[in-house]
Amino acid sequence: MPAPPHVATLLGELTLEEKASLCLGSDFWHTAPIPRLGIPAIALSDGPHGLRKQPDEGDHVGISGSLPATCFPTASALGSSFDPELTRRVGEALGVEALAQGVAVVLGPGINIKRSPLCGRNFEYFSEDPLVSGVLGAALVEGMQSQGVVGASVKHFAANNQETDRLRVSADIDERTLREIYLPGFERVVTQARPWTVMCAYNKVNGVSASENYWLLTELVRDEWGFEGLMVSDWGAVHDRVAALAAGLDLEMPPNLGVSDAALVAAVRGGELDEAVLDRAVERVLRLVDRAPSVGVDVGEGTKPGFDADAHHALARAAAAECAVLLKNDGDLLPLQLSAGDTVAVIGEFARTPRYQGAGSSRVNPTRIENALDEIRAKVPDGVRVEFAPGFGIGTTDDELAAEAIALAGRASTVVAFLGLLEADESEGFDRTSMDLPANQTALISRLAAANPNLVVVLANGSAVRLSDWEHHSQAVLECWLSGQAAGGGAADLLIGAANPSGRLAETLPLRLEDNPSYLNFPGEHGHVRYGEGVFVGYRGYDALGLPVSYPFGHGLSYTSFDYADLTATVTGIAEDDTLTVAVTCMVTNTGKRPRKEVVQLYVTDPESSARRPPRELKGFTKTTTLAPGESQTVTFHLHTRDLSYWSVRQHRWVLEGGPFRLSVGATSRDLRLTTTIEVSAPPLPVQLDSMATLEEWLAHPVGSGLLREAIGVDEHGQPRGILGDEELIRVIGNFPIIRLAAFPGLGIDHTTVDHLLGRLPPQ
Ligand code: BGC
Repeated sequence: MPAPPHVATLLGELTLEEKASLCLGSDFWHTAPIPRLGIPAIALSDGPHGLRKQPDEGDHVGISGSLPATCFPTASALGSSFDPELTRRVGEALGVEALAQGVAVVLGPGINIKRSPLCGRNFEYFSEDPLVSGVLGAALVEGMQSQGVVGASVKHFAANNQETDRLRVSADIDERTLREIYLPGFERVVTQARPWTVMCAYNKVNGVSASENYWLLTELVRDEWGFEGLMVSDWGAVHDRVAALAAGLDLEMPPNLGVSDAALVAAVRGGELDEAVLDRAVERVLRLVDRAPSVGVDVGEGTKPGFDADAHHALARAAAAECAVLLKNDGDLLPLQLSAGDTVAVIGEFARTPRYQGAGSSRVNPTRIENALDEIRAKVPDGVRVEFAPGFGIGTTDDELAAEAIALAGRASTVVAFLGLLEADESEGFDRTSMDLPANQTALISRLAAANPNLVVVLANGSAVRLSDWEHHSQAVLECWLSGQAAGGGAADLLIGAANPSGRLAETLPLRLEDNPSYLNFPGEHGHVRYGEGVFVGYRGYDALGLPVSYPFGHGLSYTSFDYADLTATVTGIAEDDTLTVAVTCMVTNTGKRPRKEVVQLYVTDPESSARRPPRELKGFTKTTTLAPGESQTVTFHLHTRDLSYWSVRQHRWVLEGGPFRLSVGATSRDLRLTTTIEVSAPPLPVQLDSMATLEEWLAHPVGSGLLREAIGVDEHGQPRGILGDEELIRVIGNFPIIRLAAFPGLGIDHTTVDHLLGRLPPQ
């Protein structure tokens, strides 16, 4: 894309030193201004679930106070909404707040895959599945950028799936796994939502720092995916500014002032860096500044928000309710059936002091906070008493608190216990070492259940917790994740029945940490983490091993039920010219008594692949509109060649193998309601025949087989000679390269035969 004329003009007027300075920020949160030429500074701020605009220059580690902003549900919660429309609306609100606070680029969303439940930043990521991460990430970016003058920064590119040793560790990942699991989310966001910027990760990918990785930053994202925006470093990710610039890293944040700029100038003067490469990065910085004309103005502390804080809070509340996942609801204990005279025991400090966001660079200073206790009190029918006991101290065991809670539970009609992880348990910067809830909380559950079996547990945690050791004590479990400043209101709406849960798990909840596919290879050691589970991440792994889990990917109950019917799949077009499309439809009907949305999931299975593939992979999902009892909706998906393909490490491209494919629609990866099989034709995979191709490969090749049979010939009875007459021997040594068989007497293959065969092969 040619530069706009004034950008080209500016580029021509900049000195070398000015150009170098533009490739670094001027402080922690701003790009460098060049007042002489009227080039303003623009502001970048975290992200991703609320703005963290720091007044002045910030605190230089960027973690402390920020201007009030709406704290929306974190990505772990939004991921469970499976709702791109809702996510887009949240993005729009973020864009509005960014504009109001003079922020040009919002640092988010984070779309890294949840490889292990232990990753300290899982609360900032959407899913273990690349489709969910990509679709929701794209929706958030589209929403943020809908203001036209605010951009997003998709992060952390790429393979930043842990916090342990995050600035040095090399994520060692094979090509197919990168392409099928860790890159498609970024690819979808970049190609569909066209983010203004992408943020490179701290870590190395296969030994090369993301910030200096030419393949990632240039060949893949620009040449292959067509990214035209700006590549910014994660804060402090640049080790060698010249190498990073050459790899495609346009902007270093925060700036190593006096060091990185001097290195760039020296490298150009010394001839190690082509000035044209520097110019390209500068041009991208200028274009970015150019896209954000009305920002760069610090609004300062204490200034009115400049956005409709009430409306955004209401959106945060609706979103919180939309994201919660009802894991279990024995005997339909929820929604609470309350009448005058009942007592609800609300237990747990989190009911009064909610956990609603994670720690680290994404921490937002909320405009207000709702707690569940007040919200439940406000919502119960007249005559219902709501009593509270904290039950446990945050981080301490307190027998008196527990005893008080148990006594309250004993005299209540229903107990609602608000449990969760402590802020100190999960954060940016470190990974967890266990999936367990704090011991003082799990110890309390069994005692509460003994006092009153009508026990509901409401969870607040950013990363998945283990349930298998305590959930049998409860009748209902509502997983709310870290769902923002209106978490309390959202939970209350669901408990009382003002809203109907429609969230689904965007990650599997295993019975135990040890079952997680990454368990033996997380977080690695000695500077390397080997992604040994390959493509079998999350449900792909649990399902391949047939492991029982607490709750499968996609799971989420509601206060109603749905029937799935009339699955159809129609194949049109052909794979050869990439017009292949499979239109899949199915009808879902609300067969229960309450209105609700249903998340319909489409899984694809390739039963005959030559590459080992997960038993099923999510290739489409849709959230219906709210369906009234008895109401039906037909949902439609469109699959394309890529959705049926795997990444071939031989061909270094996506490969579709013709044959049958099973398509299943369902409510979870393990609750497939309807399945149909389609037959897809695709050109056979070309096999490169040479002297190292095996006998089996020669025999399977449409041309090679005939040549080989002709060369070996038949005996006087018309039977094949040598090895071709001995099927058992073919089974034993058929996997030998043909040239190796030339040394074996009596097989009918010698060096002359091989030379002859190679000479007669048509050009491949
Ligand atoms: C985080 C980024 C964040 C940046 C700026 C880094 O430590 O990894 O996600 O955007 O800081 O706060």
